[in-house]
Amino acid sequence: MSTVQGRLRIAVQKSGRLADRSLDLVRDAGLRVIKGNNDLLYRVENYPIDLLRVRDDDIPTFVADGVCDLGIVGENVLEEGKNGGTNAEVVMPLGFGRCTLKLAVPPTLDYAGPASLDGKRIATSYPRILRRYLDQQGVAADIVVMRGAVEVAPRLKLASAICDLVSTGATLEANGLDAKETVFESQAVLIRSPSGPEPALAHLLESIVERISGVVSSQG
Ligand code: PRP
Ligand code: ZN
Ligand code: MG
Repeated sequence: MSTVQGRLRIAVQKSGRLADRSLDLVRDAGLRVIKGNNDLLYRVENYPIDLLRVRDDDIPTFVADGVCDLGIVGENVLEEGKNGGTNAEVVMPLGFGRCTLKLAVPPTLDYAGPASLDGKRIATSYPRILRRYLDQQGVAADIVVMRGAVEVAPRLKLASAICDLVSTGATLEANGLDAKETVFESQAVLIRSPSGPEPALAHLLESIVERISGVVSSQG
C-alpha cells in the first residue's frame, strides 16, 4: 500500500544516467511535473501522482515494499538487488539507459579469457552479478566492493581487474583499461509494486502504464 493516501508514487533516479530521461518519459506520457519546495518530491499537477527522487540503488526496495507504486531503474541495479530479496515486477523495458557491465583489465595483465582472473582480485560495485558470472565460468577470484571510482582500482593496485558499467567507453579509455568480457546487458525498465496501489488508484496506475507504453513504442 502507498504510505501517502490518495496519491500514486513513482520512484525515479535523482541524478545520474537515467535521471533526465526518466523525467522526459513521464512528461511525454502526459504528466505535468512541477518541482515542489522539497527536492525529494516532485508533484504532478494534473494527476494525483508524486515523483519520489532517490538514489537508483534504493528504487527496487521502495517499489518492492510498496513505498512507491512504480519505478524507473536500470536492469543492472534491479538484478544486483534481487538476491537481496527485492521482488519488484518488471512491466517493460524502456529503450534508454543502455549500458553493459564489463570485465576490463589493464594492458599489463596477460589476459587470455576469464580463467586468467583465477586467484586475482576484481573491483566492482556489482558483487552479486559478478559472483554469479565467475561461478558460471568456474573462476575463483576475490571481489573487492567499491561504491564508485571502480576504474581507479587497478592503478592503486587494489585489484587486477574491474567489472563496471560501460556506456560510451570513455571512462575505460581515460583510465587505460581494455574491456574483455560482457557480464550483463542493461537498459532502463519500468517496475511496479507486487502489492499494487490502494484500490482507488488502481485505474490511474493502469492508465499511466498504458501511456508510458505508448510513448515507448512510438520511440521504438
Ligand atoms: C558508470 C561507470 C563509469 C561510467 C562509464 O557510472 O561506473 O563510471 O558510468 O560510462 P562511460 O562508458 O560512458 O564512460 P555511473 O555514472 O552509471 O554510476 P556511478 O556514479 O554510480 O558509478
Ligand atoms: Zn547508483
Ligand atoms: Mg561511475
